[in-house]
Amino acid sequence: MSIITTTSLTFDVKTSDRLIWQGQVVMSRSEAPYFRELFSCVAQVVRPTRVLEIGFGLGISAGLIQQHLRPIEHHIAEIDTGIYGDLVQFAVQHPGVQPCLGDWRTAALAAPFDLVFYDPFDFTDAPDDVGMEAQLLRRLVGIDGVLCHPHFGDGPTRELPGFRTVVLSRFPVPHIEMADGTQCEHAAALLCYPQS
Ligand SMILES: C[S@@+](CC[C@H](N)C(=O)[O-])C[C@H]1O[C@@H](n2cnc3c(N)ncnc32)[C@H](O)[C@@H]1O
Repeated sequence: MSIITTTSLTFDVKTSDRLIWQGQVVMSRSEAPYFRELFSCVAQVVRPTRVLEIGFGLGISAGLIQQHLRPIEHHIAEIDTGIYGDLVQFAVQHPGVQPCLGDWRTAALAAPFDLVFYDPFDFTDAPDDVGMEAQLLRRLVGIDGVLCHPHFGDGPTRELPGFRTVVLSRFPVPHIEMADGTQCEHAAALLCYPQS
């Protein structure tokens, strides 16, 4: 099996408000109100010194992590070379931001981190391997760190083996455009703690 370490994708749309690839919404600014509420909740529970963010996208969460959490080190892993260029520009304006080009699963990342914000997008059609994903994330958060990932909708949270999920808050959000074109009106702030 070959391991993809970077991509240079051609997006259907790539603006400061939307990233669309092969008809799928990778990221849109419609998530901004949700992310504002999310990081405001997270900041009431954790004050991480070292943060790893997986997936830069439009840089919305990156800006909010800077604003609400003020980490000393904010590492950001991004697989796509074009988006990585935007990340490098962001880092120029935000001391402490350390860009990393590559696939988070194989990149050399200075783990463990106090907080990992996990928001990639799967550009492949490979089946999910939740066990492997969770194992790698466990390594990145170590024993004392915590994982955070977006949760859309009002349904049950995602099960990640080796983590205990705590829902901090559930709330309505202004319409969010989902990857498949549907809309979502509820979201949650959650943290996943490593289990011993
Ligand atoms: C949903 S967007 C992230 C949105 C971001 N949180 C924001 O606020 O704009 C997903 C990002 O993850 C990146 N990505 C996808 N797979 C990745 C991987 N394996 N490693 C690193 N980055 C990845 C994509 O290129 C894209 O920039």
